[in-house]
Amino acid sequence: MALAKRRFDALIIGAGGAGLNAAIQLADTNLQVAVVSKVFPTRSHTVAAQGGVNAALANVSDDSWHWHMFDTVKGSDYLGDQDAIEFMCREAIPTVYELEHNGVPFSRLENGTIYQRAFGGQSQNFGGAQASRTCAAADRTGHAILHALYQQNVRARTHFFDEFFAVELLRDDEGAILGALVLEIETGEPLLIEAKSTILATGGCGQVYRTTSNAHINTGDGMALALRAGAPLMDMEFYQFHPTGIAGKGMLITEGVRGEGGYLVNKDGERFMERYAPNAKDLASRDVVSRAIVTEVKEGRGCGPKSDHVMLKVDHLGEEIISKRLPGIRESGKIFAGVDAVVEPLPVFPTAHYIMGGILTDRYGRVLTDQNDTIMPGLYAAGECACVSVHGANRLGGNSLLDILVFGRAAGLNVLNNTPASHRKLTDSAIQSAMARLERWDQTGTGLSVRELRDEFRRTMEDHAGVFRTEVIMQEGVNKLLALRDKLPDVRLQDHSRVFNTGRIEALELENLFDCGIAMAVSALHRQESRGAHSRPDYPERDDANWMKHSLYYRAEDRMDYKPVTTEPLSVDSFPPKVRTY
Ligand code: FUM
Repeated sequence: MALAKRRFDALIIGAGGAGLNAAIQLADTNLQVAVVSKVFPTRSHTVAAQGGVNAALANVSDDSWHWHMFDTVKGSDYLGDQDAIEFMCREAIPTVYELEHNGVPFSRLENGTIYQRAFGGQSQNFGGAQASRTCAAADRTGHAILHALYQQNVRARTHFFDEFFAVELLRDDEGAILGALVLEIETGEPLLIEAKSTILATGGCGQVYRTTSNAHINTGDGMALALRAGAPLMDMEFYQFHPTGIAGKGMLITEGVRGEGGYLVNKDGERFMERYAPNAKDLASRDVVSRAIVTEVKEGRGCGPKSDHVMLKVDHLGEEIISKRLPGIRESGKIFAGVDAVVEPLPVFPTAHYIMGGILTDRYGRVLTDQNDTIMPGLYAAGECACVSVHGANRLGGNSLLDILVFGRAAGLNVLNNTPASHRKLTDSAIQSAMARLERWDQTGTGLSVRELRDEFRRTMEDHAGVFRTEVIMQEGVNKLLALRDKLPDVRLQDHSRVFNTGRIEALELENLFDCGIAMAVSALHRQESRGAHSRPDYPERDDANWMKHSLYYRAEDRMDYKPVTTEPLSVDSFPPKVRTY
């Protein structure tokens, strides 16, 4: 039977903030736009973003985009590309006002302007006071943004394919991307979507770890699609552990808690961040705070019967502030830790949160294939699945919502301005190789289960690619992961039914997790220095002479290559590397 086919000018895979902000640029024109999402759009992971979005509006403290840029470059441990960072920080201001005009219900100051809170890594150069740059809708900012963007897309009549899973990109013999093979989850039927331009906006891959703030849907689908199409993933060794996940569970407790005046204590009740970051203390950047917490626990100053976490003190803020500014974390604390933050501290420990690396793209969202910036025709990426790179080795809190909005918009506009007149020919070989990925899971017989292999894979990632990594630990991890990857062909589904077969989706997701996890582990093993979130006790110093460069991982033969960091901004002087202290 012939495969069902649809044609659009643009296909967007993923309906979080990046995908929806790309879509809205296109849907208001006469282009035909399709958004494919494996969940209903407002269940995308953007909905879980709590603390806010950075923009130097200067509503609460003195501020400027230039300071925002400086903080971001410093936060990236000088691995971020300064042209892209300047672009993002300048665009932040109109981006937030655009959100406001599109209906995002930001919290307000007494004078009616947008409320901004302090977040980690924001400068203390304003007369010694901390900048407050993070624009917030209580502690549900992502929820507010995602719903507003979805509503705008509904108004603009964007065509949504809800609960469709992107199986594989369609690629012709010249390496151009022609759209994607997708699977309708309800019916189990495949569908070919032809598109002149395809934007990947599928978010992160936190499910490579067992303990994570990420939703179950964050399985690195877009990164794996791009990898298999021949694009490299950049800087995958840099994975962010958010300092305050609920201990043992991983759910996020926003950095906004510390921005509002909350602080961390160890079992002796000591505010230990004063020892690790004497100036910024609890609002140092995330890599610094996460390492401090892990060190406290390792050195026996952890709390609880197993001494395996620290405490986040919030109760001194009082019920009024907590209810007004942090209602969501009070609810999460009660549900997941059995603790009411108004009366008791919250038990916290670092949780896998965000991949700084991703699909190599430029600041127009175009996917690049090598260090010479060769463009992959027809393919774009934006948001957490992409690496522009604005976060370098460590992302600042509040820059993630910003990244998805700014670069989602940039990708949408670039597609708009460069849409070819006609579709390329969809070849039989493009269809066959995409279908092969799906049909592989029709194999019957006995074998390993998806769950068994996934559990072992995630445990290996947690044990061998965590906050601190050494050569020995990482080499062992890579060996184990490659051995586990060899077992993938032996995995079999027991249920081959079509209708709502979520087991089949989990199998396809497992392949994606492997692609991302191995990219992370191999890239990490190669980088022999400590920088940002990549912390190696065997190479404790940052090594700018040898390692101020981006890593490129290619799936074929697990090959590594490198690309220079762009140190020249667009219009201002470069920020040269300095010792990074907080
Ligand atoms: O802590 C938070 O609210 C997380 C924000 C972020 O990752 O940007």
